[in-house]
Amino acid sequence: TLERTLGLIKPDAVRAGKSREIMQLAELSGFQLLAKKTLQLSQERAEEFYAEHQGKPFFPGLVGFMTSGPLYAMVLGREDAVKSWRGLMGPTNSLTAREQQPTCLRALYGTNGTQNATHGSDSSASANREIAFFFPELQPDALEGPE
Ligand code: CMP
Repeated sequence: TLERTLGLIKPDAVRAGKSREIMQLAELSGFQLLAKKTLQLSQERAEEFYAEHQGKPFFPGLVGFMTSGPLYAMVLGREDAVKSWRGLMGPTNSLTAREQQPTCLRALYGTNGTQNATHGSDSSASANREIAFFFPELQPDALEGPE
């Protein structure tokens, strides 16, 4: 069945002018771009989005990076979207990604462990929460596929 996930094109990739290319690769990989918007996160919103990482050594750098410029948020639809998008992104660290999966999004467009070009929800439950975070105007009903 069709599943949704939340994808982000992070500020490093937006700054590098790669947003359109990443969206095209997503569509070529079978994702429907169901909704998209560009926005800049405030410190408070970034801290809320990454609340589960609060207290980790990389948290301040992560929040600083995620508030450093505009990003794209996307609702991506596909069969097995959560797992498929994470596969297309590749390993979290772009340096590792370039060693292990040179054609993945983070290898192609990211910089290092924090500035890694893209984000994707880690589960269907996270996807619902993250889609509501970035797209509160979308009705939850419209985001649940036929059961
Ligand atoms: P993302 O998939 O958005 O989820 C959490 C983010 O934190 C991750 O991508 C990276 O940007 C960042 N991150 C995760 N682990 C580390 C780490 N060990 N060092 C630095 N940044 C990290």
